[in-house]
Amino acid sequence: MRRSLGWLVLAVFALTVQAQDSPPVPDTLQQRIAACTSCHGPHGEGGDNGFNPRLAGKPAGYLVRQLQDFQKGLRHYEIMEYMVAPLDEAYMREIAEYFASQDVPYEKHPTPAMSPAAVARGEQLVTKGDAAKGVPACMACHGPNLTGVQPDIPGLVGLPYDYISAQLGSWRTNTRSTTAPDCMATVVSRLTDADISAVSAWLASRPVPPEAHAEPPGSVTPPLHCGVLGG
Ligand code: HEC
Ligand code: HEC
Repeated sequence: MRRSLGWLVLAVFALTVQAQDSPPVPDTLQQRIAACTSCHGPHGEGGDNGFNPRLAGKPAGYLVRQLQDFQKGLRHYEIMEYMVAPLDEAYMREIAEYFASQDVPYEKHPTPAMSPAAVARGEQLVTKGDAAKGVPACMACHGPNLTGVQPDIPGLVGLPYDYISAQLGSWRTNTRSTTAPDCMATVVSRLTDADISAVSAWLASRPVPPEAHAEPPGSVTPPLHCGVLGG
C-alpha cells in the first residue's frame, strides 16, 4: 500500500515538475497546487462525491492547522502525509488562504436514512448537547448556523455523512488529533457509536444555508477553551 501510494505521489510530482520546467507555464500558485486540485477540485470544491473533502471557504486557520497536523503526524492519512511533507510554513499558509478564499457552490450529497429516534438524538446533540454526559452542543463551537467560526473552527454543513462519521471515528481511534487543546477528542470520547451515526446523519441531512460563510472571530464562546487554537 505504502509503496503504491509512493509511486502515485512520484507520478503526480513528475507531472507537476515537467509542467513547471516548460517555459510557457508561469509559476503561479495555481500551477504549484495542481497536485492538490487533482483530488480536491480546481477551487477546492471537493471530489469523488465527498471522498476527497471540500476545502473551499473553510477558515484559513483551520486549513493551515490540518496541513501542519498531517506534517507532524497528528492527523494520519497516508497520501496527505506525503503531499505535505516537503511544504514549508509560509507555503502551507499561502495554500490555505487560497482555498479559504474560494467561493463555490456546495455539491449535493445523499441524505442517509434515519430512524425517528436517531433524528431526535442527532438534533439534540447538535443543538443542545447532553449535559448528563458532559457533551456541549456542537453549535456552541461550530456556530448557531453550523457554518463555522473564524479563524479556525470549521463548519459542519455541506459535509457528506461518510466524511463526518469517518472524522469523528478517527478521533476515537487516534488517527486524527491536533495540538492541545484537542477539544474534539474530548467531545468524541463522550459519544457512543450510535451517537456518532445519529449526529453525522443529522448534520448531513441539513440544507446548506444561503449564507454559509464562517461567522466572524469571537462570535461564539466555546465551552471547552477551544477558541483560537493558534497556528
Ligand atoms: C490523492 C488525492 C489527494 C491529493 C493529491 C491531495 N489530497 Fe488533501 N485530502 C485527500 C483526502 C482523501 C483527505 C481526507 C483525509 C482524511 O480522511 O483525514 C484530504 C484532506 C485534506 C485536508 C483536510 C481537510 C479538512 O477539511 O479537514 C486538507 C487541508 C488538504 N487535504 C489539502 C491538500 C493539499 C494542500 C494538497 C496538495 C499539496 C492535497 N490536499 C493533495 C486527498 C488528497
Ligand atoms: C468545544 C468546542 C467544540 C465543540 C463543542 C464541538 N466541536 Fe467539532 N470541532 C471543534 C474544533 C476546534 C475543530 C477543529 C479541530 C482540528 O483542527 O482538528 C472541530 C472539528 C470538527 C470536525 C471536523 C470537520 C472537518 O471538516 O474535518 C467535525 C466533523 C466536528 N468537529 C463535529 C462536531 C460535532 C458532531 C460536535 C457535537 C457533538 C462538535 N464537533 C462539537 C470544536 C468543537
